[in-house]
Amino acid sequence: MRIPPSEVYVSPMWITLIGFMASGKTTVARRLGPVTGRAVVSLDDLVVRRAGCSIPEIFSKYGELHFRNLELEILQELDRNRDLILDGGGGLVETPAAVNLIREQGAVIWLDSSWESVLRRLEIQRDGDRPLVSLLESNHLENLFHRRLPLYAQAADFRLQGDGGDPEAVAGLVNLRCRMWQSRSGGRTR
Ligand code: S3P
Repeated sequence: MRIPPSEVYVSPMWITLIGFMASGKTTVARRLGPVTGRAVVSLDDLVVRRAGCSIPEIFSKYGELHFRNLELEILQELDRNRDLILDGGGGLVETPAAVNLIREQGAVIWLDSSWESVLRRLEIQRDGDRPLVSLLESNHLENLFHRRLPLYAQAADFRLQGDGGDPEAVAGLVNLRCRMWQSRSGGRTR
């Protein structure tokens, strides 16, 4: 069957992983690179490089809004003519312009993990690189988790369980679902 040209996805396509902190985005993104043959880009790493200091330092010196602006600025500068795996920070969905951009550029996948497993991982990781983890002492982080759920749901083309086991298997599933999404809907043409 021939697919009408209007329904063929206009390459290139970014595959962007979204989801709360410690829901497995970075681990799955790193596995997805070789699976899909795409370069993997970590937005957090690019922000740190641009700012010349760590994420906690950006938050404490300049505030969260500055961090969000840097995220958006860097996202807008990324190569739109290249297929990429984008490992987005957990708060990317707080910026509507960022959400529009990643949706325009391709598939957005929400790695959804339960609050219990996020909490377990954050307590194990406690690497000091996530300033918002200081909110753990109160119930603010849990509130943030619940407040963001509808934002992830709205931004995503589909949702997968981030705490659903082997990251290799989750990466394989992301790849498969992206292909199905692309062939079924034609993706989004620009
Ligand atoms: C943040 C998540 C972090 C990082 C920053 C803020 C958030 O990314 O961007 O600490 O607001 O949820 P990860 O989700 O990769 O930890």
